[in-house]
Amino acid sequence: MTMPLRPRRLRATPAWRRLTSETRVYPAQLVLPLFVREGVSEPIPIGSMPGVVQHSLDSLKAELHRAAAAGVGGVMLFGVPEHKDAEGSGATDPDGILNVATRVAADEVGDALVVQTDLCLDEFTDHGHCGVLDASGAVDNDATLVRYRDMALAQAEAGSQLLGLSGMMDGQVAAVRSVLDDAGRGDLAILAYAAKYASAFYGPFREAVQSSLQGDRRTYQLDPANRREGAREVELDIAEGADIVMVKPALSYLDVLADTAAISPVPVWAYQVSGEYAMIEAAAAHGWIDRERAIDESLTSIVRAGADAVLTYWAIEAAGRASRA
Ligand code: PBG
Repeated sequence: MTMPLRPRRLRATPAWRRLTSETRVYPAQLVLPLFVREGVSEPIPIGSMPGVVQHSLDSLKAELHRAAAAGVGGVMLFGVPEHKDAEGSGATDPDGILNVATRVAADEVGDALVVQTDLCLDEFTDHGHCGVLDASGAVDNDATLVRYRDMALAQAEAGSQLLGLSGMMDGQVAAVRSVLDDAGRGDLAILAYAAKYASAFYGPFREAVQSSLQGDRRTYQLDPANRREGAREVELDIAEGADIVMVKPALSYLDVLADTAAISPVPVWAYQVSGEYAMIEAAAAHGWIDRERAIDESLTSIVRAGADAVLTYWAIEAAGRASRA
């Protein structure tokens, strides 16, 4: 039968498919998030994230070297402090767990990987919000910026190479940029979690950082219904001086990611969050999906939609397969 247009020709063999693949995921574009817990000598498993742990400082060191050996692009550090309070004091204490862990990471792998830190208060506050509260119990935007500026200086001092501003306060990028510049740290880059949605997919993260959040984050994180507003947040953060912008979560927001990739003059990253990890791990544990294929397909989709880099809890494992693909 005469049929000039036969797309199946190029799908006929593994060699053809490899040669005609439009999207590749490289180890260098994967970033591994790591949780570091204060006051423990052994790593502690996180029940809702099988395979992910809260690290001790010793197990952190080993994991940093595994990540470097796997060729991933960087690590994003989160602290789990022993004591939390209303202001999140541990975030700005040079001896607080995140700042101590940052110093360790900068010493151990600072030449091989980009060492990144979460700049947000929720891990450190007893109420679990990303900022400080006013007398009525609402998150106080401008008072929070003062805390973020101090946190930025503490993280800069500890050796962070990229500050991950994830709190979704208005003006946070400008506030942190100016305090860094005034401190002579014009060299230090900012990753803005620009389009960060109020998502149910952060559920397992709450266990990972032992968050005691009361209520929700809908007064500062974006409504999942809003696509245009995601683009607006991206534009604002770029105007305020963001070096990189992020969309988060990833898989449920591929439209926002594609929009961002189309308009952004700076790199666009995506965060494959804890709930995305947990869903695939749980379904695979039941034998309902092919675990490795589902992981690789999800990462390929995120890169195909426009992410230049992806934060993923599977970074080391996925890097192993990516480098052989
Ligand atoms: C804020 C922060 C959160 C995540 C990353 N940074 C929690 C939140 O905003 O509720 C979630 C990441 C994940 O779910 O994997 N510090």
